[in-house]
Amino acid sequence: MDNTLQSIRYQRGSLQLLDQRKLPLETDYLNIRDATDGWSAVRDMVVRGAPAIAIAAALSVAVEVFNFDAFAGTAADAASFLENRLDYLVSSRPTAVNLSDAAIKLKQIISKAAAVAPDANSVFQAYIKAAEIMLEDDVASNKAIGSHGASFLQHQLKNSNKLSVLTHCNTGSLATAGYGTALGVIRALHAEGVLERAYCTETRPFNQGSRLTAFELVHEKIPATLIADSAAAALMKDCRVSAVIVGADRVAANGDTANKIGTYSLALCAKHHDIPFYVAAPLTSIDLSILSGQEIVIEERSPKELLHSRGGLGEQVAASGISVWNPAFDVTPANLIAGIITEKGVITKLVSNTFDVKDFVQKAENKVCPCGK
Ligand code: MRU
Repeated sequence: MDNTLQSIRYQRGSLQLLDQRKLPLETDYLNIRDATDGWSAVRDMVVRGAPAIAIAAALSVAVEVFNFDAFAGTAADAASFLENRLDYLVSSRPTAVNLSDAAIKLKQIISKAAAVAPDANSVFQAYIKAAEIMLEDDVASNKAIGSHGASFLQHQLKNSNKLSVLTHCNTGSLATAGYGTALGVIRALHAEGVLERAYCTETRPFNQGSRLTAFELVHEKIPATLIADSAAAALMKDCRVSAVIVGADRVAANGDTANKIGTYSLALCAKHHDIPFYVAAPLTSIDLSILSGQEIVIEERSPKELLHSRGGLGEQVAASGISVWNPAFDVTPANLIAGIITEKGVITKLVSNTFDVKDFVQKAENKVCPCGK
């Protein structure tokens, strides 16, 4: 684990989540006792970021069942209890696919365990183990994204000596189990001595950029500059960035990508200024069941996030009576994306200028290197 603050503190039977609403002013961990606490923590953005949401939710059920005094039921009852808790958690936020992907995988493990388990406790044990593996795997996967991304960018942008990168929202240790995705690539570039500067946007209205990404960058001593979201086009026009790298909440089979609101504007600006735009995401953020981004449900959040300061947590700052539209995410079409950096390598475009995400994922899952080796 790197030395940044951990968003998820877990040991068997105990789960604490760093209350990201209070950062960077206070570091306060909340105790999560069960799936009901987990649901509220996700919905209220105590924990946020697609991979962190999935892992925290899965672990909230793990602590609930670990701490049962007794469970009056069979192995099949235990399986249906777990499945119901997972379905409930999936309803907390709709856009990121990682949580529903985790729920599908955990349900497969539950049903296999229930078929052979002598009792309810054995099903719970199998579940707890599987949820714990998700926590461990995420850090390794992020480090691989960082290393693939850093080599790919250096290769692609070989004209520049050092690279300056713009990122959006928070995709770091706080949004994952550790290290981060897009911020993991920035971390790796810095570790390899090839990062000139990272620019991070404020990311209105919840300010994940100014509160969380800026906090992580300062903590890691990475040369970094905060900009207002509205300054991104001017920054690109001034030739201050070599690439834009963002995370993802859901990537469709054609490469269309849902990410934090404002990502689409950045991709359009990058296209106009001929700056490559990359998405960095684990395979768990890919949803092959949808053909394009049109099928992605975009979460709309409370008007309070815009009407009040501190993303809805402070005093009212906007005129009373104004109506508000507050989508939390937008979809960037694949044609604006130069590459999708995953833990298994980088998904690049075919000669037709399209992505074959499905082919890449299938090769990665069959353990054949997607580059053909
Ligand atoms: O609303 P949030 O803060 O959960 O949104 C987070 C993002 O959009 C991130 O970019 C995405 O989840 C990737 S996190 C590695």
